[in-house]
Amino acid sequence: MVIILAGRWLAAGRRPGDLHVLVINGPNLNRTGYRQPEVYGSLTLEDINGQLNRLALTLGMRLTFFQSNHEGELVDFLQGSAAGAQGIIINPGALTHYGYSLRDALQDAGLPAIEVHLSNIHAREEFRRHSVLAPVLTGQVAGLGSQGYLLALRALAHIAGVAGC
Ligand code: DQA
Repeated sequence: MVIILAGRWLAAGRRPGDLHVLVINGPNLNRTGYRQPEVYGSLTLEDINGQLNRLALTLGMRLTFFQSNHEGELVDFLQGSAAGAQGIIINPGALTHYGYSLRDALQDAGLPAIEVHLSNIHAREEFRRHSVLAPVLTGQVAGLGSQGYLLALRALAHIAGVAGC
């Protein structure tokens, strides 16, 4: 039963929960739900993380959440955690547009990584339309609100070979 659920990932001799994904949020994302709800939605980061945890459970995945308003802390977290993880979901906030040390750390992590934006950055101010991180990441989801995080988790499950994703 479990093997059918988690497909190739478990067939490779792993147990449910062994597929470990880092969910990282950058500057100001701790204010999600309160900051410009007309742009970023009314769910809080805690709400979104709860939804992610519920989905992760059904996919046999384990999540570690980290949020910081400081680029160096995000770099430290990646350096300390990437070795024990198989994927990354990251909403880098404004660091998307100029965070070169974060980009280097993500490249160094060497994991499948999906960039998520609550808003459609491509339809906003000019400075938001460019991501300095995207060239070293697997893909990007923008403009789908909190659903973007859930889609990113499904994408990582698909990449890892979890059946049905
Ligand atoms: C954001 C978009 C960024 O431009 C902005 O600085 C954020 C949030 C988003 O989720 O839409 O803080 O990453």
